[in-house]
Formats: sequence, structure tokens, C-alpha cells
Amino acid sequence: MAIDFQQDILAPVATDFTEMDKLINEGINSKVALVMAVSKHVVEAGGKRMRPIMCLLAARACGLADMQQAQKLAAIIEMLHTATLVHDDVVDESGLRRGKPTANATWNNQTAVLVGDFLISRAFDLLVDLNSMTLLKDFSTGTCEIAEGEVLQLQAQHQPDTSEATYLDIIHGKTSRLFELATEGAAILAGQEQYRLPLRQFAGHFGNAFQIIDDILDYTSNAETLGKNIGDDLMEGKPTLPLISALQLTQGSQHDIIRRSIATGGVSELNQVIDIVQNSGALDYCRQRAHEETHLALNALEQLPFSQYRESLKQLAQMALHRIQ
Ligand code: IPE
Ligand code: IPE
Ligand code: MG
Ligand code: MG
Repeated sequence: MAIDFQQDILAPVATDFTEMDKLINEGINSKVALVMAVSKHVVEAGGKRMRPIMCLLAARACGLADMQQAQKLAAIIEMLHTATLVHDDVVDESGLRRGKPTANATWNNQTAVLVGDFLISRAFDLLVDLNSMTLLKDFSTGTCEIAEGEVLQLQAQHQPDTSEATYLDIIHGKTSRLFELATEGAAILAGQEQYRLPLRQFAGHFGNAFQIIDDILDYTSNAETLGKNIGDDLMEGKPTLPLISALQLTQGSQHDIIRRSIATGGVSELNQVIDIVQNSGALDYCRQRAHEETHLALNALEQLPFSQYRESLKQLAQMALHRIQ
């Protein structure tokens, strides 16, 4: 049977979710009007709220008694996520996010960088209130690794020889690490030491699958559905898995087009690249890899006791595989 997002995934944590959303809005409060305006612009544009939902479900799956703490942690996670998006759009020179002009496009790069910094600082400010040195240490280390992932990606830009292993290092850092913080953080809050590793493994593989799908969508979707412009990765000469795989599967002129596109960036050959990526079997390979990562994610969850929350986490992973936005 098809999975129903509202019913199967959101409903079990619906009240926690509402509280979490309030906490985000309180969290972005600032005495500086511009800080507020920029933060609100991004937060109010929506987003799927995948990471906080995961945090809330993981907390329930661990049997956490004080869910107010999880609501706070989930809000902190979404604030960190929002900050990385604001920074990411500066780095990627992106113009559209969540169906709206990006902060850098609406204001400018300086404003976006500084408000992104504010959001990260504010998130840690709120994290201190949770009174757990273990949690604080986990998040400090984790956010360093997220920044490292983005820098690693910068180094790989315009490098056609980037390997799949390097690609995995990049996406684990820039994307999966935050998912790991969301779920492992919930186990820490619940004081369930034995569930930290399984939840971290679940989220790590989930995040890998999530980013692989995102990298496919950059070649197959459209701005209206996705809420961000497609072709951005090619524009920046990013060696994402669709291109790495296309290089493995092609020879001759097709191979040369892909190599050249990565090396120079730009979208003048976007249509040809899309064609090659689709017809070489590269996207099939990417989808297979996303399936494998999802399988590993689901396996890791078996180490948790059965609960409706654990089942919702599984369904979220299955749904993410077929997402279109
Ligand atoms: C975007 O994340 C960044 C990636 C890791 C691909 P989401 O796709 O979760 O973004 P929102 O929060 O729904 O806008
Ligand atoms: C998003 O990276 C991951 C972050 C940690 C910000 P991307 O650049 O691949 O994602 P989109 O396509 O801008 O959302
Ligand atoms: Mg980007
Ligand atoms: Mg990026």
C-alpha cells in the first residue's frame, strides 16, 4: 500500500511538530530587524522539515519521556539546516530556494553569510539550554564535519577525476551528518546509549540516499516542482554521482562532453549532458545506489525495538526514495 505522509509519518508526532514549529519562530527572534527579516524569509518559505520530523520520531522510538526537550532539539536541527542552506546558496550562487528568491538574491551575499552565522550561533545558544555536554560535543564536532564536507566539495569542483568514494565523503559530510545529529541526538536526550549507533547508521545511509536522489533531480526535475533551479550542479562544475557514473559508462565524444562540462562548468551543453546522463544508464546506476543506501538504513533500524515510531522512520526512508521535491 502507498505510504501516506500525513497519516503514516506525521500523525504520530503531530503535536510535537506544531510545538517545534513555534520554537523555530521564537528562536529566530532578533533585536536587529534585518536579521529577523532574512531569517523569516527563509523559514516561512517552508521546506519539508525532514530533519526535525526524524528527530521527533527517533526520540519517541527511544521512549523519551520529556518530549519538550526533543521539540527543542528538532527546532535547533531545522535552524542549523536553514543556516546551511542560506550559506550554500551563496556558495552555489543559487537564485531560487523553496520556491522563493534566495536570501543572497533578495538581499546580497554579505547579508546572507552574516544571517547564516547568526542562525548557527543561535542554534548553539538554544542547545546549551538542553544542559547536556554530550549533546553539545556531538553537535560541535558534527557541524565542523558539515563545514568540512562543503569545503571538500569546493575542492572537487571542476575535477572530472573525482571518484565515487570522494563523492560519498562529500555527501556524508555536507548532508548525512546533519541527519545523523538529528537522530543520534534524540538517543542522547533519551539516555539510550545503545540506540545511538543504530540511529546514526540509519540516518547516515538515509542522508546518502537523500542526496543521491537530490543530485538526480538536478538533471530530471524542473524549478516549479523542485522549488530550486535545475542545472545548478552542472553550472558549478560539480562532479555529482550522475556525472561520475556517466563518465564510467561512456566513451568517445559523449565522454568528452561530460569531462569538459565538469572542467569548465556552465550550462551551454546542459541538454546534451541531460541526454547522456539519461541514456548512458547513469541515472539507473544512481537509483540503484540510492536503493542500496536505503536498504542499509532500514537494516540499521532493526536494532531498535518495534514501535509505530520506528515504522514511521522506515516509511520516511522509503518515501524519500521516491520524492520529487
Ligand atoms: C536541501 O534539503 C539540501 C539537501 C541536502 C539536498 P531539503 O531538500 O531537505 O530542503 P528543504 O528543507 O525541504 O527545503
Ligand atoms: C546542500 O547541498 C547540502 C547542504 C549541506 C547545504 P546542495 O548544494 O547539493 O543542495 P541544493 O541543491 O542547493 O539544495
Ligand atoms: Mg546548493
Ligand atoms: Mg552546494
